[in-house]
Amino acid sequence: MNVKFEWWQKTTVYQIYPRSFKDSTGDGIGDLRGVIEKLDYLVELGIETIWFNPFYPSPQEDHGYDITNFVDVDPVYGTLADFDELLTKAHERGLKIILDMVLNHTSDKHPWFLESRSSRDNPKREWYIWREGRGKNGKKPPNNWKAMTGGCAWRYDETTEQWYYFHFLPFQPDLNMRNPEVKEAMFDACRFWLDRGVDGFRLDIFHATFVDAEFRDNPRCWTLLPGETHNRAFFQEHVYDLHRPENFEFAIELRKLIDEYSPPRFLVGEIQGTMDQLRRYYGPNNNGLNTVFIFPFSSIPMNPKKIHALVSEIENLLPPPYTPTYVYSNHDRMRMIYRFSNDPAKAKVMATLQLTLRGVPYIYYGEEIGMPQVKFSLRKSQDPVARKYWWMPITQSKRFGFSLTRDGCRTPMQWSADPNAGFSPDPEVKTWLKISKTYPKINVEIQETDPNSLLNFYRRLLKVRRDNIALQEGTLQLEPPSKTHLLYFRVHPDQTLAIILNFSKKQLVLPAPISTPSLIFSTHPKSQILLQYENSGDILLEPFECVILK
Ligand code: GLC
Repeated sequence: MNVKFEWWQKTTVYQIYPRSFKDSTGDGIGDLRGVIEKLDYLVELGIETIWFNPFYPSPQEDHGYDITNFVDVDPVYGTLADFDELLTKAHERGLKIILDMVLNHTSDKHPWFLESRSSRDNPKREWYIWREGRGKNGKKPPNNWKAMTGGCAWRYDETTEQWYYFHFLPFQPDLNMRNPEVKEAMFDACRFWLDRGVDGFRLDIFHATFVDAEFRDNPRCWTLLPGETHNRAFFQEHVYDLHRPENFEFAIELRKLIDEYSPPRFLVGEIQGTMDQLRRYYGPNNNGLNTVFIFPFSSIPMNPKKIHALVSEIENLLPPPYTPTYVYSNHDRMRMIYRFSNDPAKAKVMATLQLTLRGVPYIYYGEEIGMPQVKFSLRKSQDPVARKYWWMPITQSKRFGFSLTRDGCRTPMQWSADPNAGFSPDPEVKTWLKISKTYPKINVEIQETDPNSLLNFYRRLLKVRRDNIALQEGTLQLEPPSKTHLLYFRVHPDQTLAIILNFSKKQLVLPAPISTPSLIFSTHPKSQILLQYENSGDILLEPFECVILK
């Protein structure tokens, strides 16, 4: 059977946090012209699609996730003309661009919200979620819902003596997507960018877009901290404020919208929930969101058995033609290499896994050079979530297994050993976040010259991925796991590849999984893997060596 694959099913995505990628003006903040300067770097790296975190006009209280205008560029990052040039130059180079669309909320400084909060009978009143309070004088919140960042999800507004709802932080009031005018306005915003030629959207906290029409209280439970695979947090089960049935229908509506465009565009939803919930966003007939982030992968330990179990679960849930995603890190999570003891050899094993499984891999800027997680105190952080918890001792916050400050994974890209890591043209300027002290050693320029560097490993492997149809379109066949390694096949009518990952720090001798194997990739540029084969039929992998054989 010849199945037609769309480009987005086999692409590789590189996430750019625009504030931190490249500063072209010398103000210490990254911008769109900075990205234009680095497009050739991305081509050489070998990624195919760029996802940009929001660069729309915003007071930057949540660094762009608090939007005041969905159809323009914030002057900090440049102009619409800069964006058009960036898009054209990216397309000329064969790169695609997807933007971050925040359908759930706006900034409280958005003109819509300013109007909405001005009086109860303002025409924009119903654009947001306003409710009477409970108790005498309505001074108690309308129900028990907790925000994603903790605390009450309602804020009392003196002017009109009602409460408005927010899912994330108080300066991000939720839009009322049940109002057809709001939906139309947001669809128009999507069309504005699609008409300009963008190739799709990443949808911010998509599972929170609709809330219960009756505003019922959430049931209580004993779980304090949020997790990747459940909807419990802050002692309640988020039954009525997340994953409402309307969210799943909305996924289908949005898909219809983007399917009006040719060449095809795609959507990836930021969704936290159970695996079954993730699956439902793909739609009953693969007619919902094209893909969603599968976050459990971003906390998986380096353990072949656990990885095998998770990948099997993903494959069962999302068999072809469904397209899974593989993501280790992003602007909200700790840097990938931090979880693997800052060891590039381990990062290579995990990246080989990510880039050879069936699905779309997401590489967070700097991951390709092993940029480290940087320490910031909660009090001194720029991240509003960290500032909310400024009083918490850092020792306490470390026990959560995630970082309460997101500044640590958002530091400026380390381009070279020059002052300011080559991020800014002004060597003296104070960059918006401090640069990791590691930059004289961990940077692009140095790694370009070292054949064994993480950067050159990514370049080599991404090329192999582009050149081999089985890695793009092949099905995945997992062999039973072992304590030391993983073996799987990517199978396509024109090509079968065997992938072996050695997770151990010891050499590994295995029977060759393919007869008369030839080596098409190894993490170790001078691999000796096939030396023994002629004599014994066995192959020998070095510690942490990963190979692709055909
Ligand atoms: C998402 C974004 C995060 C942002 C939040 C509110 O989780 O990834 O960075 O702060 O939504 O928009």
